[in-house]
Amino acid sequence: MNVIKVPNYYALSEAAACIVASQMLENPKLTLGLATGSTPAGLYKELVRLYNNGVLDFSNTPTVNLDEYVINPEHPQSYISFMKDHLFSHVNLESNYHIPNGAATDLNAECERYNGVVKNLPNRLQILGIGSNGHIGFNEPSTDPDSFGYYTSLVHLADSTIKDNARFFDGNEDEVPTAAISMGIKQILDSDQIILLATGEHKSKAIYDALYGKITPTCPASVLQLHKNVTLIVDTAAASKLPY
Ligand code: PGA
Repeated sequence: MNVIKVPNYYALSEAAACIVASQMLENPKLTLGLATGSTPAGLYKELVRLYNNGVLDFSNTPTVNLDEYVINPEHPQSYISFMKDHLFSHVNLESNYHIPNGAATDLNAECERYNGVVKNLPNRLQILGIGSNGHIGFNEPSTDPDSFGYYTSLVHLADSTIKDNARFFDGNEDEVPTAAISMGIKQILDSDQIILLATGEHKSKAIYDALYGKITPTCPASVLQLHKNVTLIVDTAAASKLPY
């Protein structure tokens, strides 16, 4: 794993944008795999700036998101709302984005549909955040040895994730959806390149475990040790438990 250590969140966002922008410029067949949450917001801000300056053109770069809550898409905290607010409404992507429909009447059929979508979008550069519990996407810590082979599925959020995400719902844990549709670990590993972003001391243990822990479903991010092209961009606080 390549590790890029930067002093703060601003530098993390800039470094991530440099890599994403260079891939977009060099690879006309790129698919951008997108993540939500507070970590990638600065990256998206920088990509919008590069678009406004005429550096980036999104018209040929389809995007595919990792996950979506089981939620009304119109809800301000749905991930489709997040993506529109931070990126989709500000660049010339038009309707060339993909994200699970968290309000589908048949959620299992929606997972199947999304599996087909992901399969048809090759050359993926996948952006990832990491949960303080080591989750990637909404692939929560588990004892299921088969979980590394999962495709898109309906998942239940861990209590720790509900706690972490309550900040987006006025601090009210009862408002956080308890279920989501998430790309599975297998699909994350199927991407061509991964950029893992982590900021803040509360991510330092998950980052240590992801890099140096045993490869185990109890720390889903540890599976990234098996991928051949992962770049971790980490600020000083999130890197504080790393041995260098
Ligand atoms: P965060 O979430 O960026 O809001 O910390 C990351 C994640 O849960 O994957």
